[in-house]
Amino acid sequence: MQTPWDHRYAQRTQRMKSSAIRELLKITSLPGVISFGGGLPAPDVFPVEEFMDACQRVLSTQGATALQYGTTEGYLPLREMIARHTARYGISVSVDNILITSGSQQALDLLGKIFINHGDRILVESPTYLGALQAWNTYGAEYVAVPFDENGMVTDELEKALRYGPKFIYVLPNFQNPTGVTTSLERRKHLVELADRYGVPIIEDDPYGQLRFEGEHLPAVEVIDSEIRGSDHGSYTGNVIYLSTFSKILAPGVRLAWVIAPAEVINKLTQAKQGADLHTATFNQMVAHEVGRGGFYDKHIRKICEVYRERRDVMLDALEEHMPEGVHWTHPQGGLFLWVTLPQNINSAEVLVKAIERKVAFVPGEPFFPSGGGENTMRLNFSYSTPDLINEGIGRLGGVLREYMGTSKVLEYK
Ligand SMILES: Cc1ncc(COP(=O)(O)O)c(C=O)c1O
Repeated sequence: MQTPWDHRYAQRTQRMKSSAIRELLKITSLPGVISFGGGLPAPDVFPVEEFMDACQRVLSTQGATALQYGTTEGYLPLREMIARHTARYGISVSVDNILITSGSQQALDLLGKIFINHGDRILVESPTYLGALQAWNTYGAEYVAVPFDENGMVTDELEKALRYGPKFIYVLPNFQNPTGVTTSLERRKHLVELADRYGVPIIEDDPYGQLRFEGEHLPAVEVIDSEIRGSDHGSYTGNVIYLSTFSKILAPGVRLAWVIAPAEVINKLTQAKQGADLHTATFNQMVAHEVGRGGFYDKHIRKICEVYRERRDVMLDALEEHMPEGVHWTHPQGGLFLWVTLPQNINSAEVLVKAIERKVAFVPGEPFFPSGGGENTMRLNFSYSTPDLINEGIGRLGGVLREYMGTSKVLEYK
């Protein structure tokens, strides 16, 4: 339908497209659909009781502060808590290196706002996080896609890509969205070394790093970078901007995340954030801080990992049982997603149409590839559905694929 606004949109608005994931989430909220589509945490691990108690304490002891405007940088005790937490992972930062944002999605947008000129090239893993592409398309970003395999970004190919003169490199080293792949230590070191040699900064997006169910924790790219550079009197001055979030370790509805960067970058981001929303909700920050007192997060993350490990295992077993020959998938050591590769000639977007008829949903892989490709791939989320539903849903999906691929075993659908 035509409206008087149609010819008034700015040029940048023309590059805005609704996200395939968001569109899909609408379908998956229909009754009876088993969704492996969204990146939703398990609702059964949300700490509702702890939130109720924390809200009560915040309101009764500091109610007026909690309901007042706050500083753009964020609630100081929460930033101090994050600085202590970050130190445990081997990197010393001061509160001046930390900005609280309204979700990491806002951090991605603010980074676009302060760094990206129209036509700037950003070097990304292929596939990569769709939400980053969506945020940066608005600022006119162009992408240089670096191949990605079961060990992460193929850093041997990175050097070629660096010759395009990118503004920065965007990486997701832990349990990557969408593939679930973790970048090996060797590749992390190679990435830091090349970025340093070519003078190109890195943005490290790490929403899932703490959700490791097995294997050894690997140092963040930011940690490797600061080991090379050393710290400047306890302040971070390196080549990496690090993002993480409370969305997957607490609850996405609180819209709380943080950026760690050199203080000058934090200043610029703070100015950009003032124009966006003045500051992140004071009440939410105070409650997240209150919930976290006394070591709650460590305990809670252990609990989330137990639940997700079981769900991942159930999904891997179900895939083994139900997928036709020629279908392959990743075995993530943590996080929320795994990645399925179908035979070359099978288009997962077409499979999705059939799958939705059978009331099971996933995200087709193609939109995660900035330069196209991946039509035969799909992302499956294992955190949201209960083990029973995972079994049922993968059974349905296996049946859809067998039928679509024309193989013999036909399953019955409930
Ligand atoms: C890689 C990545 N970055 C950023 C985000 C956005 O997270 P937030 O809920 O903190 O905005 C997500 C959400 O799923 C993500 O997977």
